[in-house]
Amino acid sequence: MTWTDQANAVNGGNCYNCHQISPEEISYGTIGPSLYNYGKVRGVTDPYDPKSAAIVQYTWGKIWNPKAYNACSNMPRGGHNGVITEAQVRDIMALLLDPKSPVNK
Ligand code: HEC
Repeated sequence: MTWTDQANAVNGGNCYNCHQISPEEISYGTIGPSLYNYGKVRGVTDPYDPKSAAIVQYTWGKIWNPKAYNACSNMPRGGHNGVITEAQVRDIMALLLDPKSPVNK
């Protein structure tokens, strides 16, 4: 769901149109905050550690339905509206929270 995608491609979350995420992608929008080092700055060293549960839960909820946290959010409700699948949200969670992800290097 970004300008370089083919019309018949599988939906993505459109995330880079609003967020910086991985440093490999140099084309990104700035409507949303940068998500570079997302897990690192929040101190997530192991997403399965119960100490990280609150941030893991928040991140899932935010991606699934951002308006549940902020009714006036400009972020689309990707999961809630069926634009992205649960499996895609799982992959995004790993990208944002795994210490080995390029996002947290
Ligand atoms: C149309 C723009 C837009 C798109 C597309 C978008 N976001 Fe957002 N996002 C925002 C804005 C604006 C905020 C900050 C305001 C808010 O919290 O709602 C935000 C906040 C967030 C936050 C919370 C950041 C924090 O520090 O609390 C996360 C995580 C996030 N976005 C992830 C994503 C992911 C992953 C995608 C793709 C599936 C995505 N966003 C797509 C605009 C967008």
